Formats: sequence, structure tokens, C-alpha cells
Amino acid sequence: MEPSIQTSNPRIQLSILLMTTICTLTTQAFVNRMQEAIGKPMNSKIASLPLAYVEGWLYTTQIAIGNPPQTFTAAVDLCWSDLFVPSIDCPSVDRPEYCAPHPLYDSSASNTYVTSERNVSLHHSGFYTRGNAAVESIHVDGLEVRSQGFEEATIFRPNYFFNDSWYDTALGLSRQTVRSTESDLQVASPLQNMMAQNLLARNAFLLCLPRSSHEVGQLVLGHIPERLDEEAHRKALPLNERPGRSNFMIQPLRDELAVTPLDRAVHSKQADYVSGGWQLGGSSVSFGTGPSAPTLDLSNYTIVLSTMEFWLSFPKGFARALRNRLGVSPIDGSIECDKRMLELPDLIISLKGREEHTYNFTLTGAEYIRAEPKMPFMDPERCLVPFVLHEEDEKDEKFIVLGSMFLEKYQVIFDHDSGFVALLDRPF
Ligand SMILES: *[C@@H]1O[C@H](CO)[C@@H](O)[C@H](O)[C@H]1NC(C)=O
Ligand SMILES: *[C@@H]1O[C@H](CO)[C@@H](O)[C@H](O)[C@H]1NC(C)=O
Ligand SMILES: *[C@@H]1O[C@H](CO)[C@@H](O)[C@H](O)[C@H]1NC(C)=O
Ligand SMILES: *[C@@H]1O[C@H](CO)[C@@H](O)[C@H](O)[C@H]1NC(C)=O
Repeated sequence: MEPSIQTSNPRIQLSILLMTTICTLTTQAFVNRMQEAIGKPMNSKIASLPLAYVEGWLYTTQIAIGNPPQTFTAAVDLCWSDLFVPSIDCPSVDRPEYCAPHPLYDSSASNTYVTSERNVSLHHSGFYTRGNAAVESIHVDGLEVRSQGFEEATIFRPNYFFNDSWYDTALGLSRQTVRSTESDLQVASPLQNMMAQNLLARNAFLLCLPRSSHEVGQLVLGHIPERLDEEAHRKALPLNERPGRSNFMIQPLRDELAVTPLDRAVHSKQADYVSGGWQLGGSSVSFGTGPSAPTLDLSNYTIVLSTMEFWLSFPKGFARALRNRLGVSPIDGSIECDKRMLELPDLIISLKGREEHTYNFTLTGAEYIRAEPKMPFMDPERCLVPFVLHEEDEKDEKFIVLGSMFLEKYQVIFDHDSGFVALLDRPF
């Protein structure tokens, strides 16, 4: 259903979005509550953000920085804390084409900006930045988060595979500061600040990813509709508490990874993955049934949920077993799209609930073989197999990454106060 009323009032647009939402948030109680909130946005303690579907693997929303607010497109990232924004000073210190495609933050136009002399550099996904640390107010829907640390980036460049038009910054939803060697800013995430400043009605959020460019996803901070809340408590997957620091050494990007670009993000983001705070415990993952089905015992693994990767990443041996079973091309990791019509094994991921309970989450062949995203230069008849691999090191924590192709199947509830995540089926 498309919104039928056109309006430039963002608050009214919000209410239209809520009425046409795809995640059954339209329980009457919730609509009433949101409409009440719309009348007095400063007191609502709820933020509801529409999520756009970008390139089949990225989810973006609008946030604003400064007073008066300057608006930027932010990638939603569960495993990230450090905010960054391309600065108006950017073109003067670097080649202008790197910054020009972005809106540029002008600190002199804001009355809440506080600079720091500290130089920082930060690498987020395909963007490489350098700049100075600063502090500002940011606006997330109607909520004003004060004293948010961020990088005012005076160098801002994408890598070869990246496109400046995708996003300008990241909305980090980590529960604790990510101790990543990818960034030396190391400040609290916007979510941490929202919780610390008591801005949310409760410290929980609901994530519904858009599954195609025809859908609008939703991120609701501070509110879980009652019916979902009960179910979430019943099906809780307790958080696997980790220290907010990881000993991973980040491997530099290697040339050979350019040939199989699916693997590179994992190599460069390991520390982020396991230290953001929304990780779960696992039981097992298996591919099909029967004695020859590849199986991996996950009892000593950290299960990472990520919105910045589409795919699922497994240790090398298991990922290879899955890919061999599917007959994946070693060149680009693809198979003929038509194969998804055939009988392909289910991927069954078994996660730890409370008190010895385990819950199975199943992806069928038609769900994991997808027309999108495509790699550049890929044959249109071929589809990516979203099972990628990472190296395991005896000294390091073991983990798997469940990216958005998994998360988009569910209404995902993240409850900080009760210490769990719940993956609830979407009604359609
Ligand atoms: C920070 O970076 C700027 C621009 O590269 C440089 O001019 C300045 O000296 C640096 N400051 C410090 C404290 O390193
Ligand atoms: C980046 O995206 C824009 C908008 O989708 C497109 O016009 C442009 O060609 C893309 N650039 C590259 C280098 O792919
Ligand atoms: C998990 O770790 C424990 C303690 O280190 C060990 O005893 C157990 O054998 C491990 N389980 C698996 C499946 O590797
Ligand atoms: C969950 O999956 C495991 C592994 O495939 C299987 O052994 C088990 O029977 C499943 N449990 C349920 C309740 O379906």
C-alpha cells in the first residue's frame, strides 16, 4: 500500500508510514500511542525510522546533526558505534570529488558543536575517512541525543567497490563501544547515549528490514508492541555477554581478496563483529538432513547479527562444504539462479534460548539463493550464494555472522534491559 496523502510535514509522514507498515506494527494500541506521540514529539521517548533498501544489502535512514539540524543518510549498523560525517572542510584538504557527492556538515552553522584537537581516522565498510573528533547534538526522529562524539571527516573516500551515493554516515546501534582497530574515535554509540540520557521509553528496539526496493523497513527505538513483546519474552535468545574489547588483529586487505570480494568485509571487521554487544549463543548449524549433511557444532561460537552484510559467514571448512554441496563457481561464488527452483537443502541454524532451550531457524533454497545483490560484471542468469568464509585462528574467539539475508526474515527485537534478542516470524 502506497501512502495516498502527500505532505511535507515529517510528523504526518511518520503516521502514514506507521499505517502502511510492513511489520504489523499497526496494532491499534501502537497507532494510538504513536499518534499521541506525534502530538507531543519532544516527550514521546520513541523514535520510529523508515528504512530504505539500498543495493540489496544496505539499509539507510535519515538522521540529523547539529542545531539547527543538518540531515544525512545513515546506514543502520548493529555492530558499530562511531559516528562520522563528511565536513564542509573536506574539499580543501583532499580531492573534491571524494566529498562532493555528500551533504557536508558545517560546524559553524551549529550552536551545539564542540570541537576537539584530536585527529582520528575511521574505516566504515567501504569508506575511509580522516578528520577530527568533536561533540554535537544529533537528532534521531524526534529525539535529541546530546554530546554525541563523532568524527568531522575532512577526508572521505570510498574504496573501489563502493559508491558515495549509498550513505553519508552510520547509525551505530551497538550496546557497548566497539573496540575496533578500524576506528580510533572509540566513543559511545548513539544508542548507548540514548539509553544513558534516558531518552527512550524503554531500552529496546524493533528492527524490520525491507526485503526489496518495494518495501519500507522500520526501526522503532523505545517501544515494542505488546503482542510482540510477550512473544519475544517467550522466545528470548539471551545475549552472549562479551567484554567490549576484542583481541583480534585486523588483517590488511589482501589483493587476492579482490578476486573473491565477498570475503573481504569479514577480514576487515572481525573486532567490530564480536564486541558490539548484540551477540548470541549457538547450538549447531546444519545443511540438509541425514548422516552426510554438513554440520557445525556452535556451542563454543559467538553468533553475530549484522545489518552491514547480506551474507552468512562461516569458518572456512564449513563454508566450503556448503558451497561444494551447491556446486558454486570458484570464480565469483555464484550458481545458476534456476537452481533455486530445484530441491536444495535447508540451512538450519539452531540458537541457544534460556535454560537449555534451543530454537531452529531455517532458510530454504528459495530463501538463500537470491537475485540480489549482484556483483559487478556478474552474468544476469547467475545468483550469489551468500555463504562466505572466514579464517579461524586457534587463539581467537570463534564466531559466525548472520547477515541481513537471515535477519530480514524476522521481526527482530533487541531488548537491552532484559538482555535478549528475539527473532519472531513476519506475518507475510
Ligand atoms: C591534525 O591533522 C591536520 C590535517 O592533516 C594537521 O594539520 C594537524 O597538524 C593535525 N594535528 C595533530 C595534533 O596531529
Ligand atoms: C553510484 O550510484 C549512482 C546512483 O545510483 C549512479 O548513478 C552511479 O553511476 C554510481 N557510480 C558508480 C561508480 O557505480
Ligand atoms: C567447548 O569448550 C569447552 C571448554 O573449553 C570444551 O570442554 C568443549 O569440548 C568445547 N566444545 C566443542 C564442541 O568444541
Ligand atoms: C533442530 O535442528 C536440529 C539440527 O538440524 C535437529 O536435530 C532438531 O531435531 C531440530 N529441532 C526441532 C525442534 O525441529
